[in-house]
Amino acid sequence: MIKEYIDELFKFNDLSDDKLLYILENIDEDSKEYLIEKSHETRMRTYGNKVFMRGLIEFTNYCKKNCEYCGIQGKNKKADRYRLTYDQIMECAIIGDRLGYKTYVLQGGEDPYFTDDRMIEIIKGIKKMFPNNAITLSLGERSYDSYKKMFDAGADRYLLRHETASKELYEWLHPGEVFGDRIKCLYNLKEIGYQFGAGFMVGLPRQTKKDLVKDLRFVKEIEPHMCGIGPFIPQKETSLGGYTAGTLEDTVIMLALVRLLLPNVLLPATTALGSIDKMGREKGIKAGGNVVMPNLSPTNVREKYALYDGKICTGDEAAECRKCIERRMNNAGFEIAVTRGDNVKWSQDNPDVKQYDEQQVSINSILGF
Ligand code: SAM
Ligand code: FES
Repeated sequence: MIKEYIDELFKFNDLSDDKLLYILENIDEDSKEYLIEKSHETRMRTYGNKVFMRGLIEFTNYCKKNCEYCGIQGKNKKADRYRLTYDQIMECAIIGDRLGYKTYVLQGGEDPYFTDDRMIEIIKGIKKMFPNNAITLSLGERSYDSYKKMFDAGADRYLLRHETASKELYEWLHPGEVFGDRIKCLYNLKEIGYQFGAGFMVGLPRQTKKDLVKDLRFVKEIEPHMCGIGPFIPQKETSLGGYTAGTLEDTVIMLALVRLLLPNVLLPATTALGSIDKMGREKGIKAGGNVVMPNLSPTNVREKYALYDGKICTGDEAAECRKCIERRMNNAGFEIAVTRGDNVKWSQDNPDVKQYDEQQVSINSILGF
């Protein structure tokens, strides 16, 4: 029965909620392998064996919010706070470009210091140096006007995970916050014209399989260009520090199902997935993922961006992370692409945006080995 449902999903890129729930509740090793096979086949049709890289710049860990799961929540007095300066961010962008990153992800807590004016200065500064490189922002919830100003200044993409599509679970995890506000932000980003990303955590405390079906239905409906999916991992200074982490298996199943529901989606194999399993990112890519986001932040701040315990790559230089990821992807049978790595459907609608660096040199020569 499960294989028939997987076939239906593969063929139509949709499936009823009841059937999705049936898959989640009854999947075994054999059908999981089949699901991954079909998901892989789908990504090969849309993106081939290419994996896109994003250079992640974690530029502030100040945060005014208090998500119960997150180690940089404002109420965590033990967090050692930092902000990168304008010059430090530009330095990251220069190193990143040299290492072959054609997309930067500027991510941070919800830090009021980074006003629209400061963000616009940063966006314009990067675009002035590297007009062909894409800028992805991940700064949390802001007003429509703020999103619009940053888009007009040159930001290309925005990541805002919905975290969970269950209103009840969302509001338990975010006391005082309104689920609808976050969802409204996603619709605003979509309307403004960003390539936007939604996404959720797997294995959250109290999360049920029905909640995960809601996540699948939500992403099918809003049709994001990107979808970030990672396991929940406890952080010891938070109220959820005593819960168990989400599993590699469950996360991989969700990645594969999302690839089948949204064949064109950009789907990262996340750092969190690599943190719960040594081969997590490889397994995520094999299950339909096509994006990796190695860290470009200066080494001395890496440990401070402690969203969860046991985060990988906190001690490595940007160049080491870059080499490591390429080696890992090659060993898994995939190739790194030196390109902006836009959503394939978006690229068709925007044929003027140059995808590949014309002077695409071999990565080995960029890195000098
Ligand atoms: N402040 C921005 C926002 O809220 O979108 C971006 C930064 S936020 C720290 C980035 C993502 O980290 C969140 O969307 C969440 O899914 C993830 N995250 C936070 N704490 C986590 C944890 N304990 N385990 C796994 N992922 C976590
Ligand atoms: Fe900072 Fe959630 S704790 S956005």
